[in-house]
Amino acid sequence: MTDVLPALHLGGAEATKDLLEMCRLGPETSVLDVGCGAGQTACEISKRYGSRVMGIDISDVMIKKAVERAKKEGVDDKVDFRVADAFQLPFDDGSYDVAIFESVLTPLPGNKIDALRETFRILSPGGLVGANETVFFPSAPSELLDLADEHPAIHGMFMPETLRSLFEESGLQVIELTEMRSSEAPSVVKEMGVRGILSFMIRSYWKILMKMLTDPRFRKAQKIDDKLTKILKDHGGYVLIVGQKPP
Ligand SMILES: C[S@@+](CC[C@H](N)C(=O)[O-])C[C@H]1O[C@@H](n2cnc3c(N)ncnc32)[C@H](O)[C@@H]1O
Repeated sequence: MTDVLPALHLGGAEATKDLLEMCRLGPETSVLDVGCGAGQTACEISKRYGSRVMGIDISDVMIKKAVERAKKEGVDDKVDFRVADAFQLPFDDGSYDVAIFESVLTPLPGNKIDALRETFRILSPGGLVGANETVFFPSAPSELLDLADEHPAIHGMFMPETLRSLFEESGLQVIELTEMRSSEAPSVVKEMGVRGILSFMIRSYWKILMKMLTDPRFRKAQKIDDKLTKILKDHGGYVLIVGQKPP
């Protein structure tokens, strides 16, 4: 059981586990976690597969948390983190075997295909890009798209097939695509346990309250999140997709 929020993406740890399995990781694989957040997945990769991992994020606050996590979990000899922009990766061509995007393409402002092309550049021939993104299905009412447009932290939501097209346009060959309905996704309660949720709430209560009182952008996002979650239950979910750079 964990007492921190498990992951900032739909499907939580279960979806991460499935995505990593699809990416054929091993001790010799070099992995880049793009938009790594607080470093949970990067550390998990190293512990489970023994791979060398680099996590990058545009937020220095997230990178500080990630560095602390790697130390605490005893994987700081195999996992590095640095502040970097997904659109301008500070790495040589062909330097990674696998790149992971977990709930990064949807919130990414700017032209998402440029970020995927940049990732394509730093991948070795035959290398893989694995992504988990929240999607809506063709049955979704137009209200969902209006809400997503209004959300301060969402910059374009995908349907499974638009995500596939984005991968293909960046030069990747899609080798796997799995759709999961929101109603089938593991619940936060199952993942964190009631004690974990309570512990998280107690520790975060004042922070969240202060944000609600002082940050109108945060308030707006919370309001839209509630409505979006209800609609996504019937008309959305997440996609696990793996694309390959031609060998
Ligand atoms: C929804 S969070 C997902 C974090 C993590 N991958 C997870 O699943 O828990 C999106 C992350 O993308 C990062 N991000 C946003 N724009 C970025 C950019 N241009 N380059 C790198 N990271 C970016 C954010 O700072 C944030 O940590």
